[in-house]
Amino acid sequence: PRRVVVLISGNGSNLQALIDAQSHGELGGEIVAVISNQPNAYGLKRARDAGIDAVVLPHREYESREAFDGALIKVIERHEPDLIVLAGFMRILSPIFVQRFYGRLLNIHPSLLPAYQGLDTHARVLADGAKEHGASVHFVTEELDGGPVVIQAALEITEDDSVETLKNKVHSREHLIYPIAVKWFLEGRLRLGAEGATFDGVPLPPQGMR
Ligand code: GAR
Repeated sequence: PRRVVVLISGNGSNLQALIDAQSHGELGGEIVAVISNQPNAYGLKRARDAGIDAVVLPHREYESREAFDGALIKVIERHEPDLIVLAGFMRILSPIFVQRFYGRLLNIHPSLLPAYQGLDTHARVLADGAKEHGASVHFVTEELDGGPVVIQAALEITEDDSVETLKNKVHSREHLIYPIAVKWFLEGRLRLGAEGATFDGVPLPPQGMR
């Protein structure tokens, strides 16, 4: 089976969605390792409970971003992954890292990219009085939150929405779209080419599948 390494920093609810898809035979591959830069990430327990190798790589113990990324590359390569999935991994990756795994790196971001790159997306969306919000899966490139979008799920913002309700709504969308994107990649349908993301050889629009 195709091999997947998942990088996390926290709760790991997206990791759980991927684990659940795998246990239903719907992932198209096998999660062979979960790596966290945070020793107390709850997602580590989710991995262990599913019998997946859970590795802690505390970024604080490294002198520089490059040193940490170098160590991370080594741990990842030990697992010979076909795909590396960032699932709430809250570290910026250096160009060396991105280049090493170029075309094999997916991230999920809590907004309808290219809108609301960066942090605190739910609060910023609310503050702007935006009408819609959502989640995006995208290929990771050297441009932070700027790589080609693969799939998006949109939701309508209602008057009584708060940061908390938006966070929950976005999460439920994320849990739907991430396993789909991973499956497409592992089946060889989704690729990152010179022109951007393609699906069955056809270039995806800027917003990906929606
Ligand atoms: C998710 O909402 C994901 O989109 C976001 O962190 C959350 C992780 O939740 N990622 C980013 O903000 C990346 N900059 P989880 O740990 O429960 O999967």
